[in-house]
Amino acid sequence: MRRNTNGLIATALLIIAVGVYFFITRLPRCSRKLTITTFSPSGLLRINVSIFHTWHIPDWVQRYNVSHLFDWTWHKNGDYERCQNRITPPPHTFGCRAESPTVVNDALEYFRSHYDEGCIVDNAARLPNLVPHPLPRARSFFNTCYSLHINRAWALCRQRQSELDGFLPATTRFVTIAAFNAFVDTGHCHADVPGTVFTEEATFHLQGWTGKSCGNDAIDRIPQIEPKYRHKELINSIGTYLHAPGHFGPQQLPRLLRLLATAPETAKVLVAKGGVADSLLDVLIERGVVTRDRIVPFDQNARPNHFANMVYRSDSWPYLRGKEGAVCIHDRTDMQLVHRVLVGDEQPPISKRDRLILIKRKDGHARSIVEHLDMALLMASVVNKSKVPLNLHIEVFEARGHIRDHIALFRRARVIIGPHGAGMMNILWASPGTRVVEVGYTTGMTFPEMYAEMSLHLEHHYWVCKGYGDYSSPIHVDMEDFTYIFNEIIHEIEIEDQLSSWP
Ligand SMILES: *[C@@H]1O[C@H](CO)[C@@H](O)[C@H](O)[C@H]1NC(C)=O
Ligand SMILES: *[C@@H]1O[C@H](CO)[C@@H](O)[C@H](O)[C@H]1NC(C)=O
Ligand SMILES: *[C@@H]1O[C@H](CO)[C@@H](O)[C@H](O)[C@H]1NC(C)=O
Repeated sequence: MRRNTNGLIATALLIIAVGVYFFITRLPRCSRKLTITTFSPSGLLRINVSIFHTWHIPDWVQRYNVSHLFDWTWHKNGDYERCQNRITPPPHTFGCRAESPTVVNDALEYFRSHYDEGCIVDNAARLPNLVPHPLPRARSFFNTCYSLHINRAWALCRQRQSELDGFLPATTRFVTIAAFNAFVDTGHCHADVPGTVFTEEATFHLQGWTGKSCGNDAIDRIPQIEPKYRHKELINSIGTYLHAPGHFGPQQLPRLLRLLATAPETAKVLVAKGGVADSLLDVLIERGVVTRDRIVPFDQNARPNHFANMVYRSDSWPYLRGKEGAVCIHDRTDMQLVHRVLVGDEQPPISKRDRLILIKRKDGHARSIVEHLDMALLMASVVNKSKVPLNLHIEVFEARGHIRDHIALFRRARVIIGPHGAGMMNILWASPGTRVVEVGYTTGMTFPEMYAEMSLHLEHHYWVCKGYGDYSSPIHVDMEDFTYIFNEIIHEIEIEDQLSSWP
């Protein structure tokens, strides 16, 4: 009998606890602000638009010769003013649950019928791929694909060259939007994939950034926003892996530049905080692309919610479903944009491109090459033995110092050699025609295709070299493969130098 009473009390307490929990955490429904606007005399409840300035193409866009990478949709017909005039006041009900918001994959289509929720800022075609799509070079590419277990993983190994054009990338445009009274997601589906724009009415999944099933879900929790995180206009550049060095440069940086080019200079700029993101921002500030007072750093630990009357976002289009064949990044447009803005449009003359860079990861660390020294010695001896005097200096790169020095060094690269890893990101600063050799590995996480995509779209001569070992430990290079590749490269450089020295 006693036992039974205890059991009843425990059950009752549990029910009460669950009830209290739901009472506290359940969010109220968001109020329907649409009725307010419908019944108010037009204009009265509009935001005073003269808080925003008129818009013009930023100077740096001309200076770095990148204006051909945009469509300037907004600029053509004075659409900026027209767009601002459509904003209604923000909802006063932060901290509520929205009623079944729509998932928007195609913003072009959506804003045609929902012009009171935002507008299209830019809608630009990507630069076309080179035809035929370039392939990596290797001693035997077929054989190398099998040896590195990437024969099915890499589109470059899997697809016929004549079909690659449709895969790398599998999207055709960039679309930049301004969403009214919108929030920036801090990672509802996956902590490494923040940045989705959402409102009470819609969640804008402009591109499929994760294969997880929640990756295309609507966000219905309208968060509370601290006053300091409420903005008038906010550029939202944050995305996959925030400030991770291999990802910020080739993925978030081009988005940031696309937004800085097309959104007004009055907008604040939400950028990942820390590491390479901070140092690349220093460079953007030095190059006059953005001013420090506009920067709103996004701290990956605090992850506060941000709100703005206009949130700007840019992504590739159309939206891709599933991971298979879904390459939407590292295209020629983005690679050219990043290269021209951070390095310049003009290529240094060949006499100034005299660096043979060997990337070295710390001894004993993941993917450090056990035979690093053998590679350096081989390189020195091949260069020494050349019949034509070569103006090439070997430089071992260990990522010391500021990224502005790395940019200056890689701008002078004639050849870049290294294992797969973040150091390879610096190929972004190297001129078209640079020889790039990436050493692969065999086990653990599949050897990613990203640097191959980047390098080929930067119009380098990209080589894959066989290696073996695990993603998370030191690896071995296949010295026979490397010797072949390096001799081939030096041979080509000898010919190139002879040709360029002819009057
Ligand atoms: C709009 O803002 C401008 C500048 O802040 C101000 O001069 C003007 O009086 C405002 N207009 C209205 C109707 O509030
Ligand atoms: C600017 O870039 C375009 C496209 O790449 C090129 O055709 C043009 O020559 C460049 N202009 C200048 C002044 O360098
Ligand atoms: C290359 O040549 C230089 C100068 O002739 C010499 O100092 C150096 O030891 C040589 N290096 C190798 C690896 O043969």
